[in-house]
Amino acid sequence: MRVVVTGGAGFIGANLVAALLERPEIAEVRVVDDFSSGSKANLAGCDVTLHDGSILDPELLDAAFAGADAVVHLAALPSVPRSVANPLASHQVNATGTLQVLEAARRAGGLYVTAASSSSVYGANRELPKRETMRAEPLSPYAVSKLATESYLTAYHHCYGLDVLPLRLFNVFGPLQPAGHAYAAVVPSFVAAALAGRPLTVHGDGGQSRDFTYVGTVVRVFCEAVLRRVVHPAPVNVALGTRTTLLALVEELGAVLGHPLEVTHTEPRAGDVRDSVADDSRLRGLFPDLAAVPLRVGLERTVEWFRTQPAA
Ligand SMILES: NC(=O)c1ccc[n+]([C@@H]2O[C@H](COP(=O)([O-])OP(=O)(O)OC[C@H]3O[C@@H](n4cnc5c(N)ncnc54)[C@H](O)[C@@H]3O)[C@@H](O)[C@H]2O)c1
Repeated sequence: MRVVVTGGAGFIGANLVAALLERPEIAEVRVVDDFSSGSKANLAGCDVTLHDGSILDPELLDAAFAGADAVVHLAALPSVPRSVANPLASHQVNATGTLQVLEAARRAGGLYVTAASSSSVYGANRELPKRETMRAEPLSPYAVSKLATESYLTAYHHCYGLDVLPLRLFNVFGPLQPAGHAYAAVVPSFVAAALAGRPLTVHGDGGQSRDFTYVGTVVRVFCEAVLRRVVHPAPVNVALGTRTTLLALVEELGAVLGHPLEVTHTEPRAGDVRDSVADDSRLRGLFPDLAAVPLRVGLERTVEWFRTQPAA
């Protein structure tokens, strides 16, 4: 089996590439990445075919998709604040880019396409837990672009018979996720600050909750989806149904590190949602054998990885 991973040099992508290469069923992994946020270092030691360039380039996609069986589409400009600062760029890569990927898949024929959407699509809808059948009420340009991503997969299934699986990822964390840049996610920011002995910056009161998902769990879902060609035209939550406030995350991290951590509170961020916890019944139905990694274990592995990195 030949698998293309767009955004394969990024955080989730590079973890996925490493996992795919361990599977005997996978003959070749191809990575399409423009290295805007990903890096070649993330793929060190991985035997991949590299297609260096943008998903907005149809010719590059045609070359990468020729003779492939499946595409895992992860390339995107992630981050809510980045999209608030530059909505057009997020739309271009996340929405138009997905359309280019789907068009290339249609041209190639017979391809299976799974893609990463985001829990941010639930936005202003306060109902908990988040069920996929709830109305999406995106609050940021990023969330709108991710709603477009998953909706295009659904539309291509209905209009062109493409085998698809749109996955709504919740807050993913783990090794290879960078800290120390303006749009860094909360777990790496906390871990880097804690290891450097700095106070942890919490936006707002810290009572906002997230369904933190270890990257190894997400990677297992993508691997399994590709190998079994799991098709579901409507979006599927990928999270464990666990609700952790940021203050509880700080405490858990303190427990992993063996000492309490200091916190500084700042203003809440525009476009952020208050609470996010998944209903995981659709995921469990499609992946009944999924062995998920608990938060504590995931944090331990993340800290372990950070300790091998130069201080951020
Ligand atoms: N990390 C999370 O918590 C999370 C949550 C929900 C959804 N997602 C989604 O998962 C996917 C992967 O996210 P990540 O956290 O690994 O982010 P990341 O920034 O580490 O990875 C994105 C990758 O896409 C590449 N890329 C960006 N624009 C590109 C373009 N035009 N052409 C080719 N490659 C391009 C980047 O260089 C990078 O390697 C994204 O689609 C993101 O929206 C992530």
